[in-house]
Amino acid sequence: MLALAAPVSTALPAQAAPTRCGDPAQRPWCDASLTADRRTALLMAKMTDDEKIAMLASDDPLGGPLGGFIDTAHADTNSGIPRLGIPPVYMADGPAGVRQGKATRLPAPISLAAGFDPEAARLYGGTVAWEARHRGNDLIFGPTVDVLRVPRNGRSFEGFGEDPYLSSGLGAAWIRGAQAQGVMASVKHMAVYSQETDRLSLDMKVDPRTLREVYLPPFEAAVKQGGAATVMCGFGKLNGRWACQDDGALNKVLRSEWGFKGFVPSDHTAVQDTAAGANGGVDMELPIGMHYNAFMLKQAVAQKTVTQATIDGHVRNVLRTMFAFGVFDRPAYPNDLGTIDRTASETAARKIAESGITLLRNAGGILPLKSPSSIALVGRAARESQSGSGSANVVPFSAVSAQDGIARRAGSGTKITYTDGGNAGAAADAARKADVAIVFATDSEGEFFDRSCLTLQCGDPLRGDQDALISTVAKANPNTIVVLETGGPVLTPWRNQVKGIVEAWYPGQEGGNALARVLYGDVDPGGRLPVTFPAAENDAPTAANPSQFPGVNKTVTFSEGVMVGYRHYDAKGTTPAFPFGHGLSYTAFRYGGLTASSTSVQVTVTNTGQRAGTAVPQLYLGLPSPGVDVPQPARQLKGYAKVALAPGQSKRVTFPLTSRSLAYWNEGAKAWKVAAGCYRVMVGGSERDITQTGTFGTCPAK
Ligand code: BGC
Repeated sequence: MLALAAPVSTALPAQAAPTRCGDPAQRPWCDASLTADRRTALLMAKMTDDEKIAMLASDDPLGGPLGGFIDTAHADTNSGIPRLGIPPVYMADGPAGVRQGKATRLPAPISLAAGFDPEAARLYGGTVAWEARHRGNDLIFGPTVDVLRVPRNGRSFEGFGEDPYLSSGLGAAWIRGAQAQGVMASVKHMAVYSQETDRLSLDMKVDPRTLREVYLPPFEAAVKQGGAATVMCGFGKLNGRWACQDDGALNKVLRSEWGFKGFVPSDHTAVQDTAAGANGGVDMELPIGMHYNAFMLKQAVAQKTVTQATIDGHVRNVLRTMFAFGVFDRPAYPNDLGTIDRTASETAARKIAESGITLLRNAGGILPLKSPSSIALVGRAARESQSGSGSANVVPFSAVSAQDGIARRAGSGTKITYTDGGNAGAAADAARKADVAIVFATDSEGEFFDRSCLTLQCGDPLRGDQDALISTVAKANPNTIVVLETGGPVLTPWRNQVKGIVEAWYPGQEGGNALARVLYGDVDPGGRLPVTFPAAENDAPTAANPSQFPGVNKTVTFSEGVMVGYRHYDAKGTTPAFPFGHGLSYTAFRYGGLTASSTSVQVTVTNTGQRAGTAVPQLYLGLPSPGVDVPQPARQLKGYAKVALAPGQSKRVTFPLTSRSLAYWNEGAKAWKVAAGCYRVMVGGSERDITQTGTFGTCPAK
């Protein structure tokens, strides 16, 4: 794994400081030596019905999605019960950094995903939580681990891409990093959330196998490996049941099967009905108790649609989580982010960006730059800091643009010009006069809308025809490099006309510095694609069938089943522009010596080039199909590593496998099963660049 800087470190408040709970002699639940369960029971015995109900909703009238504009520290608040020493819980968005007020704008989560590095995810979660805490928050709404099904999804920047295994490991590490800062994480949005179009009313028809193999694993990992304090249920319906009233997903799978002990807050306004929400497993309604209020919950008990035991269960979940995460036993976190040293966050932002910047094309070794004496920068994004909009937006403290970063790195001996790209002729003139032209292109993404197509100008019409601009500049200067700053896959019809293509994602407030360091070769581009870039719009998953997306009569059928992301391209036999896992280094790697068994795969990675670099060997398995009705994807990611290698250096890499790595969801048995047969083992530098193969299991003789 790539060694990143030490995590953001600030000692948690001393346990000896006065607690908000009070004196254990008067309030026995304040005795921190008792278990969280015991303390909860002691406390609940003293609570009135109204006090219990007050624990089940945010009570901040300014809360919710719009709250951040008004309350600059918190999205939601549960004020607690001072009479009993129950402290308030302050909550903030979100998955890319604290949204309320200013914060460090980290690279978008899709960039973290491109890093293929759980260590970076731990640093990311730790940084977000550290800042959330210094804004006085106890809980952060993140990470977003919804597997990317629809490439045009407006929130694609906010998640970890199209592979469940990658999303699972990164989500769990993010949560561990965040919670180590003493902040509760809220992984979201359970169980399936795949598009913005009609998101509040959409019914998603998903078969059980697809649910288990594709959409649920990141939540399962968040709970079992990440120890998530809370799990946010989402909008829309899963197979006819509202996500925030889904007894099957929330009570049966999450709590009973996975053993989740935390609490379930609803997404904002996602609870539709008091009794259905309470019986369906939601513990806390956000952004306000529209259904979880004293009048409606008491009425539900009187009418026998909800039992008191069910309400007590929700109260128990909330309080036990608060006890378990130390909320009662420490002082409130002060809201002082504006006054503290943010150097560690800034360093984290830069390193994570470097680790995620993905070199897609490098014809003739145009990169790293060979100290050109003049560079023409084209496109407004060269002077901006891109980010997605909505609850994962962050207002940065400050931002280093690409132009600033490149100018600083290039030094005064390099002539740098800038044209905004609005006039293609002016851009071509500037490009013609320079040694190297770098065109910046971006899409526009955010919550509430999906992109209307995958071309650049479609994603961001206000910027004009960026594809045409790139072609024009490429004609004017043979040494043209495109820097994409997009939140998800885009079409690249000009890809063979330019020498270099760098996907920098939304690179965060240190993006300009990170990009300059990658362009000049101070660091190897660390990223690999966590999403496939299709060659044509209709090649993309869900693009060709309206019942798959955007839906018909507000119903979306996941008829592609488990063939999500690169599994789709493999099943259809289409060649993408850039496959999942692809990303070049400035050096070259050779894989060799593959050994494979059902418990581990090993391979030796060698740096065969002249420079130090970072390899990301990826392990894919082809599982045997237990029957025609259970088609198996050609390849499924089951392991990866991030390996820094000096020139000539080799390292042996081990990918551990568990029975779960080999398992498929058997709908008849409602259980994970490992099929008999031959398991194909594939290791390489991308999903389509497999250089080592092997098998284990019962395989036909060669
Ligand atoms: C989003 C959540 C977010 C919430 C609060 C909702 O619209 O779906 O992810 O946490 O708003 O801002």
